[in-house]
Amino acid sequence: MSATRAYLFAHPAKHSLSPAMHNAALHALGIDARYEAREVSPKILGSALEGLRTSGAWGANLSIPHKEHALEWLDHVDDAARAIGAVNTVVVRDAALHGFNTDGLGFMRSLEQAGLMSVAGLEVLLLGAGGAARGVGYALRAAGARVAIWNRTYARAVQLAAELELEAVSDANLQSKVRAAQLLVNTTAVGLEDTRSSPLPDGLLPDDGWVCDIVYRPLETKLLRDAAQAGLQTIDGLGMLVHQGALALEKWLGAQGIAGKPDASVMRAAALERLGKA
Ligand code: ATR
Repeated sequence: MSATRAYLFAHPAKHSLSPAMHNAALHALGIDARYEAREVSPKILGSALEGLRTSGAWGANLSIPHKEHALEWLDHVDDAARAIGAVNTVVVRDAALHGFNTDGLGFMRSLEQAGLMSVAGLEVLLLGAGGAARGVGYALRAAGARVAIWNRTYARAVQLAAELELEAVSDANLQSKVRAAQLLVNTTAVGLEDTRSSPLPDGLLPDDGWVCDIVYRPLETKLLRDAAQAGLQTIDGLGMLVHQGALALEKWLGAQGIAGKPDASVMRAAALERLGKA
């Protein structure tokens, strides 16, 4: 049995697609190592991270609910992760813990893969102001998009907009902002395991352009179904998951001096199979 070199620390961890995705990529590269999901509660996050230092592990991915809390345990946090306020990838180098955030860049890669090559100057509307919106909003702004945020709880949109230097959208302005959006991104939990709910009121969609949902269970959410029916271009949420994973694996391999680049299409196929839709 190959040694486990990379982990997912999450709570809950058992429904994660990451082990299937990473193990498929490692296998395709011919690298003798495994990725394993560990059930880690907030109480034991510190000891789980400490344990990485001397275990021979390459590092770990962090998911709900650890991304924000992990920062205090790390020796170094890169600038983007610090600005986002969340770490999803820990790399062990010389027994030191380095934190990164590959969610934002993973999201940008998923846009490119779908054919949206540049967001510079694009009018973007983000729905939601939670943890996921932070990484996405940061990356879009860094790439030159004009980003506005609407959230059910307006005060959270105002807070995040102030932190990331974006625009907050009130309920009164939602309709005009949606219609004018060239890219609309759902980062809320609405539509998760629910095929009948959309974060947008019935009948309201952008006039033209792209609609992306970072929810990937189901792969085609009501928002994406409505958008496709209206003739808009759609981007599903599996792309962000796959590319944040590929970027994390790239970092671990790079730190180890192991040659090879993870194949995102192999990772997507494995994730799809795990989702039961291969
Ligand atoms: P995550 O880290 O996944 O982004 P989160 O920080 O709990 O999770 O944020 C969830 C987001 O989904 C928030 O923007 C939340 O809106 P509120 O700030 O108003 O809570 C949004 N959300 C969750 N359920 C929602 C619903 N039924 N309608 C609209 N927005 C919802």
